[in-house]
Amino acid sequence: MKETIQLHDRKFKIMIPAEEIDRAVTAVAERINRDYAERETPIFLGVLNGSFMFFSDLIKKVEFMNEISFVKLASYAGTASTGEVQQLIGLNNSIEGRHIIIVEDIVDTGESIDHMYHTLLEKNPASVEVCTLFFKPNSYRKEVPIKYRAMEIGNEFIVGYGLDYDQLGRSLKDIYVVTE
Ligand code: IMP
Ligand code: MG
Repeated sequence: MKETIQLHDRKFKIMIPAEEIDRAVTAVAERINRDYAERETPIFLGVLNGSFMFFSDLIKKVEFMNEISFVKLASYAGTASTGEVQQLIGLNNSIEGRHIIIVEDIVDTGESIDHMYHTLLEKNPASVEVCTLFFKPNSYRKEVPIKYRAMEIGNEFIVGYGLDYDQLGRSLKDIYVVTE
């Protein structure tokens, strides 16, 4: 692995090597395996684009019968009063009565997950839980319970393993942190 990389105008240095990510993914998968062993075919709902690599590694460690699906949060400018509006796209099948596990790359302020969580609840699922690769406890300011957190970090900006800096860096297998 490279010690430092450049993406656009910023330099990043290695922070979490792939082996350590794998251990964290295994640990969170084991918890989910225990908690969902008796439940009727849960649906893993990946949030694109950021979760694609985490999702793929996580699902290979899941030992119960499951379905998978993907959604995207599209942001667009609303009216002046509503500011930026987020819309959940890609959820075509009914989730009524189903157990949903949302799979996210990172929960920061919680704006995105808050919107998604409440949109899903309106569709009467049996349960909704959140599984995120990274959680930033110091910036989180919502009430949605984030039950499964593979790793927690400070407020630093990271890239790799699905996470991007202005679309670059998603394919890196290790996590890098911005250097100032
Ligand atoms: P939130 O709505 O503030 O929780 O932010 C969630 C979204 O912001 C994530 O899904 C990412 O797209 C992006 N994000 C937040 N922190 C980082 C980071 O450290 N690296 C890359 N993207 C981030
Ligand atoms: Mg995301």
